[in-house]
Amino acid sequence: MATPDLEGKVVLVTGAARGQGREHALALARAGASIAALDICADQPVPSYPLATRAELAAVVAEIEDLDRRALELVADVRSASQVAAAVARTLQSFGRLDIVVNNAAIAGSGPFWELTEEQWDAVVDTDLKGVWLVSKYATPHLIARPGGRIVNISSTAGVKGMANFAHYTAAKHGVVGLTRAMAVELAPYGVTVNAILPGAVASPMLDGLAEELGVTPADLHRVFLHQQLVEEVIQPSEVTAALLWLVSDAARHVTGHCLAVDGGWLVK
Ligand SMILES: NC(=O)c1ccc[n+]([C@@H]2O[C@H](COP(=O)([O-])OP(=O)(O)OC[C@H]3O[C@@H](n4cnc5c(N)ncnc54)[C@H](O)[C@@H]3O)[C@@H](O)[C@H]2O)c1
Repeated sequence: MATPDLEGKVVLVTGAARGQGREHALALARAGASIAALDICADQPVPSYPLATRAELAAVVAEIEDLDRRALELVADVRSASQVAAAVARTLQSFGRLDIVVNNAAIAGSGPFWELTEEQWDAVVDTDLKGVWLVSKYATPHLIARPGGRIVNISSTAGVKGMANFAHYTAAKHGVVGLTRAMAVELAPYGVTVNAILPGAVASPMLDGLAEELGVTPADLHRVFLHQQLVEEVIQPSEVTAALLWLVSDAARHVTGHCLAVDGGWLVK
């Protein structure tokens, strides 16, 4: 698919400092957009693995500026209403508009559901589900200011299928699918589409972090996940980005409330 023309558009990408979010931010910038790149940039008690650093976020912003595109570095926690509201306000101050939101930030963790702590449950559900709602809530008044707005939420194959040892993540990602559908209905009259992408096993620091938590190598964990897919190859972040670029393009203007799996056939196996 041809790259969409996003010249003049402003995109807010959460979890933009590394992994899939970084790939999305750079591709959207190459398509002409200005990027508000948001990330927490600090480790947390949950998850057990490290989150992105301030240096990683600054590097993404520098890479976008090297493309002669504008970028804004936003350090914020998607779980915090006040931090999200401030980040959206700074985006409007800097760029004067907001057209597209990519809700990509998330954390994961593993363990039987009866052994998860309340802290683990709250951290995952607050980041992966409440965070999507909060960012969408504060962005929407600006998205509906003109037709053509887009929200793309990154869910997971765990958003529609049960996944052993990831109950909090699975519940949150199912919630993202429900939230996507509800927001699609509410925003249709404003010409804003809301869709979800459901990736399978994607090469990223999240999978490496989970492998460390489970005491296995990333290659071992990939093998476990790849057995769930028909195509037993690790998906690259750029392949998820390709789906995102289509969903934010004019060609997808009649696509809303949709869940687009980029999963090597995980959901039909
Ligand atoms: N990697 C996979 O196999 C896979 C599979 C399916 C879905 N996903 C989803 O894809 C998306 C991207 O994940 P990834 O694989 O690139 O993981 P990642 O861990 O590399 O990236 C997640 C980013 O979110 C940031 N973040 C975490 N908590 C935050 C918070 N509270 N506020 C702001 N930023 C925060 C992290 O610092 C990090 O930069 C996530 O929604 C994830 O659930 C990943």
